[in-house]
Amino acid sequence: MSNSKATLVEPYGGTLVDRVAKPGAALKLAADAATAPKIALSERSLCDVICIATGAYSPLEGFMGSADYASVVDTMRLSNGLVWPIPIVLPIEESLAKRLKAGDIAALVDASFNMVAAIEISEIYHADHARETSKVYGTSDHEHPGVAAVLDAPPHYCAGKITLISMPKPDYPEHSLTPAQTRAKFAELGWRTVVGFQTRNPVHRAHEYLQKVALESVDGLLLHPLVGKTKGDDVPADVRMQCYKVLLEKYYPLGRTVLGVFPAAMRYAGPREAVLHAIARKNYGVSHFIVGRDHAGVGTYYGTFDAQRIFDDIEGELGITIMRFEHSFWCNVCEGMATTKTCPHKPEDRVALSGTKVRDMLRSGQRPPQEFSRPEVADVLIAAMAGTSA
Ligand code: ADX
Repeated sequence: MSNSKATLVEPYGGTLVDRVAKPGAALKLAADAATAPKIALSERSLCDVICIATGAYSPLEGFMGSADYASVVDTMRLSNGLVWPIPIVLPIEESLAKRLKAGDIAALVDASFNMVAAIEISEIYHADHARETSKVYGTSDHEHPGVAAVLDAPPHYCAGKITLISMPKPDYPEHSLTPAQTRAKFAELGWRTVVGFQTRNPVHRAHEYLQKVALESVDGLLLHPLVGKTKGDDVPADVRMQCYKVLLEKYYPLGRTVLGVFPAAMRYAGPREAVLHAIARKNYGVSHFIVGRDHAGVGTYYGTFDAQRIFDDIEGELGITIMRFEHSFWCNVCEGMATTKTCPHKPEDRVALSGTKVRDMLRSGQRPPQEFSRPEVADVLIAAMAGTSA
């Protein structure tokens, strides 16, 4: 082990989980699981399987049982006391819930019935959707996309350790680095301190500002767009990845940035999801994590800085440094990017565009001002909306 590798931040809970079967074992497991009952994975659960198996959700080795579920929902901790913000559970249909029992093995299959993983069932139990949504999401409103995903899934959960048999083909092979591969990359680059950036939206100047301000104080930057299941009106991951590629080519120092992908599903759980995002990125080897305004939020369910405040009492326990940022914007008087912490000017001096306004501009083929979005990025988005390529 090289020195730099030894000094990267520890995985959460101390050990990086690896539940990916080695080639020989995978063949045997696949043969054994071929005759086992099949559980069809939703897109969301498939994302969870990948995150668990590759260690992004370390120390989880499988889907949670009822004790962890109740504890996470009520206290934001696993039953062993470790902070964990969101239940990672596997909903199953009632017919399966009646048939399966602890001790069984089941095959986890994707939408095309390809075998992805096996689960050693430890428990089948009943979900408490009302409690889960109100405690974790702060609302049981079906209009909330994360809440809808919980409420629309069957209320039976299947718990147990999983083993990944066949990794779904990644959409971005050169960027699909597992936590172990990401750590190895950091070690190769000689980085010890790394800041992670979660994002589900097309990159704009405020994102770039946060990333670069953070990069002033650490060895490297892990750009980590979430590419798992998102809500229908979010910009597709392939378009967002294209935006990052054109941006990095022109505006980022080579060798100080790694563009990876985070295969998780988006839950839009605001503060609680910010904690999950930070824990997962720690598993990828980051020592610092950016949380700006309305992190992982949707609509008006969360206060602008709730996702920062949630870390106040747990940051030490998590062992990751949270880099908190105020609302960031371009100021015409400062002639640069700033936040309310650094800019004394009036709101009317700032370039502020609503998401709707930006979408309208892009749809009509118009670039938003370059103080808001880099022209190269705007062109990718305009082309994507027009159904052509930039
Ligand atoms: S998120 O759902 O992944 O949080 P988004 O991709 O928009 O959405 O945000 C990525 C990160 O940038 C989050 O930490 C968010 O808080 C932060 N952020 C986005 N826009 C701004 C802004 N204008 N000022 C400060 N922070 C921002």
